[in-house]
Formats: sequence, structure tokens, C-alpha cells
Amino acid sequence: MKSQFYLTTPIYYINDLPHLGHFYTTLAADVLARYYRRQGREVFFITGTDENSLKTIRAADKVSLTKESYTDQMAKMWRETWDALAISYEDFIRTTEARHRRAVEKFILKVYERGDIYKGKYEGLYCLGCENFKGESELVDGRCPDHQVIPEKRSEENYFFKLSRYQDKLLKYFRENPDFAQPAEQRKEMIKFIEQGLKDVSISRPAGLNEQWGIPLPFDKSQVIWVWFDALINYLSVLDYGEDGQRFEKFWPADLHLVGRDIFRFHAILWPAMLMSAGLPLPKKVFAHGFFTVNGRKMSKTIGNVIAPKDLAQKFGLEASRYLLLAAFPFGQDGDIDEVKLREKYNAELANGLGNLISRVFNLVERHCAGCLAKKPSPRDLSAADKLVEDLNFFEALLKIREAVEWANRRIDEQKLWQLVKENRTAAEKILAELLGLIAEIAEKLSPIMPETSRKILEDIEKGKISKGQPLFPRLI
Ligand code: MSP
Repeated sequence: MKSQFYLTTPIYYINDLPHLGHFYTTLAADVLARYYRRQGREVFFITGTDENSLKTIRAADKVSLTKESYTDQMAKMWRETWDALAISYEDFIRTTEARHRRAVEKFILKVYERGDIYKGKYEGLYCLGCENFKGESELVDGRCPDHQVIPEKRSEENYFFKLSRYQDKLLKYFRENPDFAQPAEQRKEMIKFIEQGLKDVSISRPAGLNEQWGIPLPFDKSQVIWVWFDALINYLSVLDYGEDGQRFEKFWPADLHLVGRDIFRFHAILWPAMLMSAGLPLPKKVFAHGFFTVNGRKMSKTIGNVIAPKDLAQKFGLEASRYLLLAAFPFGQDGDIDEVKLREKYNAELANGLGNLISRVFNLVERHCAGCLAKKPSPRDLSAADKLVEDLNFFEALLKIREAVEWANRRIDEQKLWQLVKENRTAAEKILAELLGLIAEIAEKLSPIMPETSRKILEDIEKGKISKGQPLFPRLI
């Protein structure tokens, strides 16, 4: 029986279209999903949209659409964007779906029955951009540092979740499971945060306030559930948790929740506490990747440097864009996406590196062996790349592959292979067959990142009938 692998991206807010930041997380998840499928695992990879948010309503108002038609249109566009970018999700969850509502109701009742929900008064600040409560100390000049807005003052009767009750349990869990929250620096931050003391969180608002839209509390319909408490449960509702589905039996607990570090606390602290309260097993791993700037600046509409994934794909091609994003900087760290550097990288590593290697070898095989040559085992071992991908270290994995490409291109130069084929056919064929073996190995390792390109390369080599064809990565000027 295949062992399963359940993998998630965050579900995204749909008050706007996907940008490169959303693509980054979704792409990494897609690469892992494709990697584990090739390893023979039964992968369940999901993404979706977070729709029960005030931001959604405001965005719908702006374009004078009803909430329903706005969310339908936007969710469709998000889905289509992922389809166009070859994101191989197994399911797509929207939090306005009935299956989600059922799962949320079932889950919150469990937490309620556990005695972890009580009524209280919330007085404080709320940032709509974050959809989160803010302390004075988190503000800079009275504004949320991430959204540059003055948070709303709120004073209302709400229900609270007893997060404080899980403080010690969480700490114990973090200590006993050092791989649970990654990478290490983010894990440390989380431990520090828990050690400072966890406060209970408000998880509902009076319905109707500010035209609130969302899922009513099943035990008090005059209140609507806070969007984050609702959103996190998507990881269960997509498994038909609300219907006691078989998917849930099969895939829970998740193998990996992949998120940006902006929302790590929700995933590494609040979500595990919610699961503990509901008596469910915790995900095996939560991983926070870094944030990137574009040309040195935070991506923002005001600055006008928001890049849509399709813009990048138009410039470099989809497969190359996938490579370039993961090769730009290490996945767990912050970085910068600079268009000039991406172009340089494209020309150096894809056009002159990999593309050139393949075209030189295929060309020689076509011209001198009539395209027929069986590959020999690869002279370089690239198996280390697998472990690196499993550790979400895509950057190092690509470095290993690049080194192999450079090694092979050097070998062709040193052996003057284009002369050797004329002078000593047997010796040249041996080298060419080995290089075919190496190219096949490289294509195999690159296949989760560049599935189509790899498929084409492998197909030619496996067929044993090689033709040079069009350049894979034409040089960009
Ligand atoms: N709806 C919540 C998530 C709920 S999950 C239960 C949310 N949505 S979001 O649309 O704001 O998406 C945030 C995510 O987008 C980040 O966690 C990250 O994965 C990705 N990124 C957004 N901007 C980014 C960068 N500039 N750099 C890297 N990733 C970025 O939060």
C-alpha cells in the first residue's frame, strides 16, 4: 500500500488576485507534491480561498457586486491562475462551501464541550489587513507595521478560546518534537512567544456588525466566528471531517502545512492548541518560509511593484520561472526578487548552463550516432538532492544540480568532444552515453520543478532516439 502524504498551502484572501508571494508558497508545495508522487506516495495536496473575511466584503462593495457573485468570480480566477501555472492540487477548498461550514460547526462544538470557550468582553484594537487583534506595543506610530493602517478600536461581547490553558502543553510538545516547527529560528521565536505567556483569544463577533460575513457560532447564532478560527479548520474540512469522511481517516494528521512566516504563529501555536482542545492529533510539521521584496522593496500596490505570476511566466517561460524563484535565495530565509538578477541567472544557469549542455550532447548524438545511443549510468551521484528537497532546501538541491551541469559542460570542453567524435568514435560514444545518463539523472531531479521540460528530455533519452530540437531555454537579451 502506498503511504500517504498530506500537504497544504495557506488558503488565500480573495480581495485581490494572486501575486508572486502567493505563487511562491503554492509553487513550493507543488514541487513537494510532485516529488512525493514520484517517490510513490499517495499525495493529497490542497490549496484554496479564505472567503469569510471583512476584506472580501469591502472588495465586493468596491466593485458593486454581491458577496456571492464576487467570491464566485474571484475563487474561479484564483483556481484558473493555479491551473495556468501547473499547480497540481488534488482539491481546492473555499470557506464558503457547505462542507467547510459543517466541519467548522463540528469542530467548534468539540472545543465548546471541552469547556474551552467562554463569553467575555473584548476591548482593544483590530487590524483588518491582518484580520488579527493588536496590542499597543505591536504598533509603530499607532499603525500596523505590515499594513500601515490605524487599527480599529473594538469593544464588544465576544466568545473567547482558552488558549492560555494550552501554554504548557504546547511547550512540552515543542520540546518533545523538535522537528514540528521549522526552520529552527522560527521555532525558537515560537517557543519564546509561548514562554512570554499566552492570552485567551476572542473567536467571535456579534453578527451583523460592520456587515460581518461568516459562519455563525452553532451554540449562539447571534455571533459569527472569527475568520482565523474558521480558516484554519479548512485543513480538516477538505478531508470531509464534517461528514466523518474516509479522507479524514486516511490523511489526518497532515504531513506538512506550508506557510509564510507572517502567519506562522497561527499555524504553530493557535492551530495546535485548537486541535489539542478538539482532541485531534497535531500536524507532523509546520514550515515557515521567508518573505521576499521585489527589486529591494516590499511588494505593494502603492509602490506599483506587485508582480503577477503570469508576468514572470511571460518573460521567462513558466518552467524557467518556477526554477528561478526557488533558485533565487534559500527557502526558509528572506530574500529579494530582482528582475535584472533573474535574467542573469536565467542566461547563466538555464540558457548557457543546462540548455547548452543538452543541446551540445543531443546535437553530437544526432549528428554522429544518427540519434541512436543508449545512456550509461550517470557518472555523478545526485541522490543528495532528494534529501535536500525533503528538507525544503530547494536552493541547495538546485546548487547540486547546477554543479553537475557545470561539470558536464567542462568535460565536453576538456575532452574536445566535437573533435573526439571524429578521431576516436568509441571513446567519444562512451562519454556521450555517460553524459546522457547524467542528463537523465538531472532531468529526473528537476522534474518536480520543471515537469514539462524534464518529461521531454527523459522521453528522448528513454526512447533512445535523440534529436536536437528547439533550444529549451533561448537566451534572453
Ligand atoms: N488567509 C490567510 C491564511 C489562512 S491559512 C488558514 C492569509 N492569506 S494571504 O492571502 O494574506 O496569504 C498570505 C501568504 O501569502 C503568506 O503566508 C505567504 O505564504 C504568501 N506571501 C504573501 N506575500 C509574500 C511575500 N512577499 N513573500 C513570500 N510569501 C508571501 O494570510
